Amino acid sequence: MAKYKNIGFKIQNTIQKKRDSEPRGCIRFRCSLTNTILDVLRQRPGWIEAKDDSEWDFYWCDVGWLRDNFDHMYLEEHVRISHFRNHYQLTRKNLMVKNLKRYRKLLERETGRLEAEKCDFFPCTFELPFEYHLFVEEFKKNPGRTWIMKPVGRSQGEGIFLFRKLKDIMDWKKEGSRFDEQKDETQVERYVAQRYIENPYLIGGRKFDLRIYVLVTSFIPLKVYLYRDGFARFSNARFSLSSIDDHYAHLTNVAIQKTAQDYDPEKGCKWQIQQLRRYLGAKHGMEAVETVFKDMDAIIVRSLQSVQKVIINDKHCFELYGYDILLDENLKPWLIEVNSSPSLNATNIEDYGLKFRLLEDILHIVDMERRSVNCCSILYVFSF
Ligand SMILES: Nc1ncnc2c1ncn2[C@@H]1O[C@H](COP(=O)(O)OP(=O)(O)O)[C@@H](O)[C@H]1O
Ligand SMILES: [Mg+2]
Repeated sequence: MAKYKNIGFKIQNTIQKKRDSEPRGCIRFRCSLTNTILDVLRQRPGWIEAKDDSEWDFYWCDVGWLRDNFDHMYLEEHVRISHFRNHYQLTRKNLMVKNLKRYRKLLERETGRLEAEKCDFFPCTFELPFEYHLFVEEFKKNPGRTWIMKPVGRSQGEGIFLFRKLKDIMDWKKEGSRFDEQKDETQVERYVAQRYIENPYLIGGRKFDLRIYVLVTSFIPLKVYLYRDGFARFSNARFSLSSIDDHYAHLTNVAIQKTAQDYDPEKGCKWQIQQLRRYLGAKHGMEAVETVFKDMDAIIVRSLQSVQKVIINDKHCFELYGYDILLDENLKPWLIEVNSSPSLNATNIEDYGLKFRLLEDILHIVDMERRSVNCCSILYVFSF
């Protein structure tokens, strides 16, 4: 394949010795994580942990390893890796929005405004410092509105803050900048400034967002598996716009919420998605619930279509994405971000069970054993 230009003279790392045509007695796996995924891999019949770093058939790797190694490797036909090479086109906050904006423009040109409007599922977003002037223009149109600043390269709620005054950004610019001696210039950490959803759907006065699991095994054609289970992550404190500095009220990340004084690890701050469905069904009727979930399916498909031609499609790669979706009080779903390494740590037994089953199903679909799929009952597939 043209992508592997280095083949032949720069095989640095993995040389898979077994030919695809040879029968494989067992599947040798590697795993960068020590949580649920490792348990799933270890209990899988016929799978063994690779002793040698260079001899494996399946690697559940982290994105850092992928970045450092992927371009220098030769991969045998049967080998599978748990990320696409440039997954960050979808999973970096700034790039996701850039791709979505480009896709929306393309749809407008080719199919008209109505079709393009179907992409209006992400809050108005600017990348700072590059789009600072565009942001200020938009900011001034609606003074007093709340915005959220998020560093593009961090996760788990780290570095996020809400603001209503431009002055707060000026302080951030000063505090967040550092002098790069090599380039002889001042560098500012990249952020996105995004319209804050001020009217989230509340349950018991608390805000939540949804974590939806999506498996992609190919971008061209697009093959997407949507996991039926997932959960809503609740904030610990009651929602209020009068205290925008309270992360326990505004950010739903478990990493943030579990540091709250009254956080109960047994109860956690999660509801299974089925529980949320039942709650919404009882309040708004099943038809409304079906519409919400259909809208979320459409968000997932459109967001993937927006990067379909950008992601380097590779038959060795698959990826599990964790979608963060927020519902507003009108039951409109908003895409907040897509994670390339959704947490596979379990917060309690129920959570462990959910993640265990999810990962087992993923392995059925990736199908290293060549049993061919159709054995997964709780995933359904979109194929384009
Ligand atoms: N535009 C927004 N409007 C309302 N809440 C938001 C918005 N963006 C983020 N949040 C809240 O902040 C949390 C963290 O934001 P997110 O973009 O997912 O960053 P991280 O990578 O740190 O998880 C989200 O789970 C959500 O609860
Ligand atoms: Mg998130």
